[in-house]
Amino acid sequence: MVKTVGIIGGTGYETLLPEGSWLATETIYGKVEFMEVDFEGLKVIFIPRHGREHNLPPHRVNYRGNIWLLKSRGAEYVIAINAVGSLRRILKPGMIVIPTDIIDFTKNRYTTFFDDKPVHVDFTEPFCMKLVRVLEKASEKVLGYSISGAVVAVTEGPRFESPAEINALRILGADIVGMTSAPEAALAKELGLCYASLALVTNYAAGMQEKQSSEDVEKVANEKRQQVFQIILETLKILKEQE
Ligand code: HPA
Repeated sequence: MVKTVGIIGGTGYETLLPEGSWLATETIYGKVEFMEVDFEGLKVIFIPRHGREHNLPPHRVNYRGNIWLLKSRGAEYVIAINAVGSLRRILKPGMIVIPTDIIDFTKNRYTTFFDDKPVHVDFTEPFCMKLVRVLEKASEKVLGYSISGAVVAVTEGPRFESPAEINALRILGADIVGMTSAPEAALAKELGLCYASLALVTNYAAGMQEKQSSEDVEKVANEKRQQVFQIILETLKILKEQE
């Protein structure tokens, strides 16, 4: 059986793969646009998290639709690409970090597929360690290092955090902060997908640098896109070999 791998990424990552055609499916959670391509013997499904037109801010992303789509098309593994701010001086902008735990501070999102029965999924391992290990290996090969074990805090956005919020998150144990890993990781867990994240540090969090701007986040994301690409290609190769 051909292994299926989902990639949920930011805008600009569609060029990661050989040109596939765009498809759109109306799931029970709404429309999801995606690209599906055969890649080195794997089936790879790419979903631009913020929509093809980049018109969905973090609080309006169709998290359930995206995860549902991947599950329904047979994905076993899901690699998420996330931009994050750093709460630790040693995690510098431009670095790529692999989180292994999460604190969900979002407040206005659909967080479950189970609305009509009490299902309490085990979240002891929020990110799938099997895939984390592969991301580590791929990162080491491409960058010469891997940083994993980070705790990601997820805020509702779309605004950036205040310095006091960042101090609070740091005291609670967070290392990085983003706006999209929740509820994505939990939804993937509910459907039994092996989900892990490559988190690109785009800035120091609020209070650690003069100010925050989306332009700065985008600038670092653009500069580092090729490296993230390379890590993902390497990850796909390792997953293929593990068959
Ligand atoms: N905060 C939240 N989300 C982010 C940040 C940040 O500083 N940088 C990139 N995504």
